[in-house]
Amino acid sequence: MGTLSAPAIRARKVRDGAERLVMVTAYDAPSARVVNDAGADLILVGDSLAMVVLGYDDTLQVTVKDMAHHVAAVARTNPAAHIVADLPWMSFHVSASKTVQNAAKLIRAGAHSVKLEGGRKRLPMIERICDAEIPVMGHIGLTPQSVHAMGGFKVQGRKAEAARRLVQAAKSLAHAGCYAIVLEGVPVQVAEMVTDAVEVPTIGIGAGPHCDGQVLVYHDLLGFEQRLAPKFVRRYADLHSEAADAVRRFSDDVRSASFPTLQESYHLSEPELAALGAAGC
Ligand code: KIV
Repeated sequence: MGTLSAPAIRARKVRDGAERLVMVTAYDAPSARVVNDAGADLILVGDSLAMVVLGYDDTLQVTVKDMAHHVAAVARTNPAAHIVADLPWMSFHVSASKTVQNAAKLIRAGAHSVKLEGGRKRLPMIERICDAEIPVMGHIGLTPQSVHAMGGFKVQGRKAEAARRLVQAAKSLAHAGCYAIVLEGVPVQVAEMVTDAVEVPTIGIGAGPHCDGQVLVYHDLLGFEQRLAPKFVRRYADLHSEAADAVRRFSDDVRSASFPTLQESYHLSEPELAALGAAGC
């Protein structure tokens, strides 16, 4: 089975009978293998990397170099899932040529498409990336790279005018060439309006059930991330507790000298042992 392509994803509208898209983040080879083996359609190497892997408080700290390093680790696993790479903050804000070069770095690292945050202000950059034959996924609503401008990680589009602007932004993004749009942190009715208004699939996170697909952050859905519990996260495992319990049992075994056993150790052969004895060691 070949990699799921951007045009194939673009055709996945639920209203046309398509199955809902599944996207999960991954940032390294083991997480990519888990997500791909579970049959997800898309692996997002998100700039959430900054928060869930690198320990920052927001996503603003990661660079194109950081992203490329993690995209390459995911790509080395050759997943059937489509790899989307986030363009980090300030990598698509300065000039069109720099934007295209940054997108190309992520594609050369192994991504099949790039994602960027923002509405109509980003249209010229989206068009330039598409002109370079790189598929682009849009991302509107609660855009974490705008944390300071938004005054925090806040649900967007709660007022009628703001909701109308989101619908317009989604239409413009689709018109500019985005093959899919992430809708993050918007009321369920707004997500439904946007999904109805565009020809490309919407992929929701904190946007309710009416999108054409859903995305969650790997560490949230597996329960590795325990510091925050946003309302929209459903935890399917508690791997932080399971992992801590395993490390605790390892520590107990080391301290009580029950690990390692002789069966878990390497041994010299009898002749080599004898030779050592003959040499007086
Ligand atoms: O970086 C990320 O993980 C994302 C998702 C929250 C959509 O952009």
